[in-house]
Amino acid sequence: MGLFGFMEDIETHVFGRLTLRWPPRLKRRLFDSLVTGSAGFIGSHLTEALLERGDRVLGVDSFDPYYSAAQKRRNLRRSLANPAFRFLRGPIQGVRLTRYLRKGAGIYHLAAQPGVRGSWGTKFEYYVQNNVLATQALLEEVVRSGVRSKVVYASSSSIYGDQPPGPMREDATPNPISPYGMTKLSAEHMGRLYARAYALNFVSTRLFTVYGPRQRPDMAFNRMFHAIRSKKAIEVYGDGRQLRDFTYVGDIVDGIVSAGATDTEETVFNLGGSSPVRLDEAIAHIRTISRLPVKIHRLPTPKGDPRTTWADNRRARRELHFRPRTSLREGLRRQWAWQSGEAGGDLVG
Ligand code: NAD
Ligand code: UGA
Repeated sequence: MGLFGFMEDIETHVFGRLTLRWPPRLKRRLFDSLVTGSAGFIGSHLTEALLERGDRVLGVDSFDPYYSAAQKRRNLRRSLANPAFRFLRGPIQGVRLTRYLRKGAGIYHLAAQPGVRGSWGTKFEYYVQNNVLATQALLEEVVRSGVRSKVVYASSSSIYGDQPPGPMREDATPNPISPYGMTKLSAEHMGRLYARAYALNFVSTRLFTVYGPRQRPDMAFNRMFHAIRSKKAIEVYGDGRQLRDFTYVGDIVDGIVSAGATDTEETVFNLGGSSPVRLDEAIAHIRTISRLPVKIHRLPTPKGDPRTTWADNRRARRELHFRPRTSLREGLRRQWAWQSGEAGGDLVG
């Protein structure tokens, strides 16, 4: 530990100038919030929102190789400039993260192996590791520590899978159709078990296809904008008529923050705009916004891709005052501005 103490850990972890032991020895300091997956798409926005409301935030992220470390470094840039933020690079498993938290600190658990279509075959191992085992390790750590934190978990619309037509309600019977969805549901159940056994306050927020600046490079809009900028055809899976409740990342972050702050008996919330659109309608917006020619290459529907996602968000509206405000067109315009700006050059996928 050098002159800047903990900050040196941040720099060395992020910029890789030194190899540090894991878990690192950090100066004890008490944080108001812990964000796992803080270098990721949603986690980095959430971290900024918590800093903005005045929290001291500890972020942890393993820089999983699923996509480029360069994008994750950029995601963290703004938070790292804030002295109220500290970052640890490494897996959440096996680290006593709670010793850095004040009693009652909020824990926002977003670290995961995401991605519906890639969760088949040998890759499933990563899903079990990072979605099931990592969640269990975090929960064990929380209940053993006596930190009395509320844990807000980033679950997924993919736990619903195929459902009868119409909006998906939190009390529907889960029916995941991808291995990814199955691991997200396992983690929800895991939280429920710990809540019951140890009186832990555990809330699942089920997020519906999130988009906006910093979107993961494997997701549809990122891939499409990237292809258009590279003058390549966009790939459309299936007939393009699948419905998705695309929800802007800023609105999702508001919902997650509110889930952490609100006292409520409910433990599961859909966070989605409840205004699903067909993929081909979204592509029409992409065409208008980019003002570039869009060529389409059609491919079969991948295994595990649901036909429809559609949030019934009445519970979140009532209990969390969740008010998604960003229209798809406006959100896509912001994502396009991000992808065609400075960051655009480094995108992968
Ligand atoms: P992301 O991949 O950008 O962020 C996840 C981060 O977690 C990554 O930076 C990764 O390095 C980190 N990570 C993975 N395993 C880890 C571990 N064991 N320890 C520490 N860090 C680890 O993904 P995202 O799109 O921002 O998703 C965030 C969360 O929201 C995930 O839990 C995901 O399942 C959930 N979710 C996302 C969407 C969406 O549309 N993006 C929708 C529903 C749910
Ligand atoms: C997204 C996230 O990737 C998951 O992590 C998350 O859990 C899930 O949302 C969720 O809502 O829970 P997905 O809906 O597949 O999953 O999001 P996109 O990658 O944006 O795909 C949207 C649609 O576009 C899908 O039907 C997909 O098959 C299609 N698609 C994707 C294409 O047609 N072309 C592409 O290049 C990529």
